[in-house]
Amino acid sequence: SSYHSPFVAYELISTANALVNPRGKGIYATDETPEAIEAAFRGAAEIAEEDEHWGEEDHKDRRRRWREDAYNSLSNEYISGVILFAETLLDFKLAPILLDKGIIPGVRANGELRPIPISPFEFNVQGLDDLLPKLQAARIAGARFSKWRAPIACTSAAQGLPTQAALEAQAETLAQYAAISQEAGLVPIIEPDVEFSADADLARSAEVHERAISLIYARCRVHGVLLEGSLLKPSFPQPGLKHPSRANVIPGEIARATATVLSRSVPYAVPGVVFLSGGLAPAVATSYVAAVNALVNSASETSPFSRLPPLSFSFGRALQGDAMKHWVKGDNKAMEEAFQKWSKSCSLAAKGEIA
Ligand code: 13P
Repeated sequence: SSYHSPFVAYELISTANALVNPRGKGIYATDETPEAIEAAFRGAAEIAEEDEHWGEEDHKDRRRRWREDAYNSLSNEYISGVILFAETLLDFKLAPILLDKGIIPGVRANGELRPIPISPFEFNVQGLDDLLPKLQAARIAGARFSKWRAPIACTSAAQGLPTQAALEAQAETLAQYAAISQEAGLVPIIEPDVEFSADADLARSAEVHERAISLIYARCRVHGVLLEGSLLKPSFPQPGLKHPSRANVIPGEIARATATVLSRSVPYAVPGVVFLSGGLAPAVATSYVAAVNALVNSASETSPFSRLPPLSFSFGRALQGDAMKHWVKGDNKAMEEAFQKWSKSCSLAAKGEIA
């Protein structure tokens, strides 16, 4: 891949490996939009709306204080990297808190969603046009990796989503994003987020994951992405909320489907996989990471599972949910304990030890 100088390639590969090694280190995703983090504060405080005296500056100050307190609670024993929203990186300038702790800052690269004309319930992601200068500015502010989330609809085969048009559009966009991110000197984290709100069963979800991830890597090849300097951030294959089998999901079955999908679709060159939590309860998301690592650890040498790269976490809600409930009440000690508890639990899970 000709556009990487040997120095840049070396740095990309080192950073990608540092995000998933030694085993048990993972990522904390804090790249919600300001609107989404404000909604999370209200949810944690169990209120519908803020006091009418709150102005935009008060909200902004609260976002800054939350991020700062959260980052100060992290330990690099469990957390290798944190994904920041542009406001946190460029306005609040909080990357140095992380760097001082030996934690690598990253930045959210994807923009907003737009419906695909031929299939209005599916989306493509905006943000490629001005991506290079944005990521170059993020690098100057301390970022060393980036992430791009692509939501992928998933229904039963009868309902027919995702369409081939949507899968191809997302794969092409993700590959272009990854190439531009590497051009800016940032490790791309490629995030196909297969949704589980509909009526797919586990086999259908696994099939959609396999097709989506395979297409992404086919396009990465066309765009010359240096796979050794990239990571994959997938969802877990799982039955949809509207499928009857959702009522008793067994982590061991999720683990087998996940390892099967990854062994079929992720090239060897990719140094790690970091799962998103996707709104699953923290204990559930963590149990899936634990189950897939337990399966890999017990795989025989001849099993393709034994050749998978480190399988870790890149959780947002599952890591911070409990901590935020304490923080909105002003209990910073309990907040720090909640961060320690869940990041340690995720770390053990990523090593295949009991969560
Ligand atoms: P969740 O773990 O809350 O899904 O967040 C991860 C993420 O980055 C989603 O884009």
